[in-house]
Amino acid sequence: MGKVITCVEDLRRLALKRVPRMFYEYADSGAWTESTYRANESDFARILLRQRVAVDMTNRTLASTMIGQDVAMPVALAPTGSTGMQHADGEILAARAAKKFGVPFTLSTMSICSIEDVAEGAGPGFWFQLYVMRDRDFVGRLIDRAKAAGCSALVLTLDLQILGQRHKDIKNGLSAPPKPTIPNLINMATKPRWCLGMLGTKRRTFGNIVGHAKGVGDLASLSSWTNDQFDPTLNWKDIEWIRERWGGKLILKGILDVEDAKMAAQTGADAIIVSNHGGRQLDGALSSIGALPRIVEAVGHQIEVHMDGGIRSGQDVIKAVALGAKGTYIGRAFLYGLGAGGEAGVTKALELIRKELDTTMALCGLRDIRDVTSNILEPLDAVPPYARR
Ligand code: GLV
Repeated sequence: MGKVITCVEDLRRLALKRVPRMFYEYADSGAWTESTYRANESDFARILLRQRVAVDMTNRTLASTMIGQDVAMPVALAPTGSTGMQHADGEILAARAAKKFGVPFTLSTMSICSIEDVAEGAGPGFWFQLYVMRDRDFVGRLIDRAKAAGCSALVLTLDLQILGQRHKDIKNGLSAPPKPTIPNLINMATKPRWCLGMLGTKRRTFGNIVGHAKGVGDLASLSSWTNDQFDPTLNWKDIEWIRERWGGKLILKGILDVEDAKMAAQTGADAIIVSNHGGRQLDGALSSIGALPRIVEAVGHQIEVHMDGGIRSGQDVIKAVALGAKGTYIGRAFLYGLGAGGEAGVTKALELIRKELDTTMALCGLRDIRDVTSNILEPLDAVPPYARR
């Protein structure tokens, strides 16, 4: 990557330079005023850690499990749409980086590389995220394809049956591939590496959809596809047939409310992901880390609770684990790495997070991530009054 990279923010800045504006901004944006998008990050910063000293800190381990699968640290790669537009063949590269590192990669339904491409390029065992379309036949076949490719978990997204409005995408005329308009061509001319990569791959549109869904030959825009195809009738009863058709580990993504968490815990799913879709759906909703403790308290004894949203460092990971998350997910943090430097950039993002997580755990006086509890956090009344909200 050429530059000295010390944190995910460095990767973000590099991605901003290297990725065409419409795709960089697709990742780095939230719905409407982006207040929930910002809160996902800023609420982490309000949580303070307890510094402990003079404890033996040799033989530390970050190894854990998520839904019974071994993970090198409790961090998975979140499903993110159009990942193969941040960098040519992005999903294959990210899946490879995750596999070598020992953490799960989740492929989005709205990916550029298809389920089969990723299985061939990175091997089986990745997770597959499902959106439910009106065409149930197509959904059934997607589930079957994920099974045939050897995916080891299905992540069902519940918070995006209609798309939250992201102003930047509308203004940029987001599409995959980008339309050859003058502003797009001018912008792409400043991203030679990206263009070269794209010239070297055939994968430039939604690989799980085109050629698989009936009547879809050209699918340029995520928003038109979601408006036309995503099923707004999706409800708790649908989870049963999806679970049966899939027959493997099932994770429900997009839970932010205690009542919904209780419903989810009764479905027989293996885990829930506390999430507001990275602040991309209901602007004005709670941050994910803000919603986590009450959900853990309500259902943590019944179902594994994971979270995503706002994680940019290993310090954020340990705070989520301290508040009861058995697993966390990074979306933008790995996308910035991908845009900055392909597979090596994703590996870099994971290494940065691992180092921050490991050092923080040690300085909090612990050696095993499985021993982390809210005991490593300062209680609210330890926060000086001037620093309180
Ligand atoms: C799709 O999942 C998106 O958030 O854009």
